[in-house]
Amino acid sequence: MKILATAAEDAGISGDNKVFARDKRQLDLNDHTQFKEYQTIGTPFVDHPKMTARNVNVFYGDKQAIVNVSLDIGRNEVLAMIGPSGCGKSTFLRCLNRMNDIIPICKVDGDITLDDKDIYKSDQDTRAARVGMVFQKPNPFPKSIYENVAYGPRIHGLAHSKAEMDEIVENSLRRASLFNEVKDQLDKPGTGLSGGQQQRLCIARAIAVNPEVILMDEPCSALDPIATARIEELIDEIKENYTIAIVTHSMQQAARVSQRTAYFHLGKLIEVDDTKTIFTNPKHQLTENYITGRFG
Ligand SMILES: Nc1ncnc2c1ncn2[C@@H]1O[C@H](COP(=O)(O)OP(=O)(O)OP(=O)(O)O)[C@@H](O)[C@H]1O
Ligand SMILES: [Mg+2]
Repeated sequence: MKILATAAEDAGISGDNKVFARDKRQLDLNDHTQFKEYQTIGTPFVDHPKMTARNVNVFYGDKQAIVNVSLDIGRNEVLAMIGPSGCGKSTFLRCLNRMNDIIPICKVDGDITLDDKDIYKSDQDTRAARVGMVFQKPNPFPKSIYENVAYGPRIHGLAHSKAEMDEIVENSLRRASLFNEVKDQLDKPGTGLSGGQQQRLCIARAIAVNPEVILMDEPCSALDPIATARIEELIDEIKENYTIAIVTHSMQQAARVSQRTAYFHLGKLIEVDDTKTIFTNPKHQLTENYITGRFG
């Protein structure tokens, strides 16, 4: 209860309803039938979604990692995904830009759309430009700061002259609030920056190709609180132009940056709702246990 209240208060969420509903739905994890037919509680669907996932099942060989998940991501929304380690957050996130395709034993079933078009149809390759990704561990290329950002625009032919490329690089670094720190060392290796700077460089690299959706998998887990705060401010600023899905282990972060929060458990999407509702009045016992620190 304390953690829940703290997460909500840290994020400036207040209200009188920090009292849990008493009629929590119980989920008997030992009852396989019940678990298999589980229906997500809350508001998985939104009006005019940017992306939709319907009945998504993901298998690694025989092992099922995502079980029948249906979820929308709204336009210009920040959607947080939370849940215990191994519950499938990264797996689900990777479905949204077909990154699981590169894992040979991984099989993805179901429908995923971007602007109403199925991203798994061969002519809808969204991996490169329209859906960008930022990973847990900053992974700059072993190239200069400039080249890290210019690489994507170059392979997508977004710049027609050196001046245009310079402008894209500068704008992307500015949007990632890194430009002022690196403007005099653009030819230095990206790997020589601090962890927090490297992560902002990776964000600049992701936004340089003008993606419409940005997926972030625990982007702050390797960062100190100051670098984390800068990334969170950045998410807040850029959400006007992008749709963002962020996986995080920090309840406070989910509460601060997102408008909706999705709680995953053992491959299932247990509950998704307005972030305020999830953190002040979760309906499912498992969600409540997790956000109050009693589980996971
Ligand atoms: N490449 C892979 N091969 C086989 N199994 C995998 C692979 N990647 C993930 N899994 C399995 O799928 C399940 C979900 O893993 P996933 O990485 O999506 O969880 P997660 O919620 O992101 O966890 P964490 O919070 O620890 O990052 C786990 O049981 C994991 O062992
Ligand atoms: Mg993960």
